[in-house]
Amino acid sequence: MSKGINSRKVAVIGTGFVGSSSAFALMESGLFTEMVLIDADKNRAEGEALDISHGLPFARPMKIAAGDYDDIVDAAIIVVTAGAGQKPGETRLDLVKKNVAIFKSIIPEIAKRNCKGILLIVANPVDILTQVAVKLSGFPENRVFGSGTTLDSARLKYLLGEHLQVDARSVHAWIIGEHGDSEIVAWSSANVSGVPISEFCEMRGYTKHDEHMEEIAQGVKNSAYKIIEKKKATYYGVAMAVRRICEAIIRDEKSVLPVSSIQHDTYGIEGVTLSMPAIVGKDGIEKQVKIKLNEKEQEALKKSAGALKKVLADLDI
Ligand code: 2OP
Repeated sequence: MSKGINSRKVAVIGTGFVGSSSAFALMESGLFTEMVLIDADKNRAEGEALDISHGLPFARPMKIAAGDYDDIVDAAIIVVTAGAGQKPGETRLDLVKKNVAIFKSIIPEIAKRNCKGILLIVANPVDILTQVAVKLSGFPENRVFGSGTTLDSARLKYLLGEHLQVDARSVHAWIIGEHGDSEIVAWSSANVSGVPISEFCEMRGYTKHDEHMEEIAQGVKNSAYKIIEKKKATYYGVAMAVRRICEAIIRDEKSVLPVSSIQHDTYGIEGVTLSMPAIVGKDGIEKQVKIKLNEKEQEALKKSAGALKKVLADLDI
């Protein structure tokens, strides 16, 4: 963590559903003693700061206030959730134009104050916006990364845990690539406490392994669509992912998490932002962990990178 940083301070930019749920989860985490909320609608940020503060007597003391960019110069982590969310029927990539425009107003404000904290990008399309944030901030790549497929991997663990009737925390499985329609389940490395998934399925008496796994992969990929159809937005799952990533940073845990960052020499992918597991600690991304993929997974990863590259090529950044 850089000098001049308050390691107990977090900022959340954007206090819509995702930002306010993340702020609530961060308050409850006990990781921070100070939190600043910023929103284009200052009233909204003030309302959220008050509402969340009223939970403090049931948690741990901290200062929560609405603020401005000058107030976040020393924040250890700046969580960027600002941007339009998906409407029913929209893909994450459909949001690109609107949200890149929003980032063009936010990221330079952070850059010109030379903020030294880690930029954690959460707004969608998260991979594209992370790449935009690296470019517009000029910050080193380890300090700018996206929540990526941390949420999708949690959804995968949850669904596998339900299917196999085992604690989701004992399931080790990654979703990699785009946080979106071209995401990939890295089935070849998926296991339950070291036992390959297919063997665990057999142990549980299942016979149609491939069929079940395909259903689960589709279930993960379509989770957000399903939730948005029913309640217009997703926010609690991603808020917990934000909390988990912040925990890994603040406690310098060196946890391996599937965050989104610019890839270098990843199965031939260069300069495109997508999710791959990475070691996350006090300086952000310490190292990308290039997990073993079979040929089919490698091909799918390249396709995912290709889809993102196409969107990036059309952007004016
Ligand atoms: C999600 O996956 C919409 O990206 C958001 O819940």
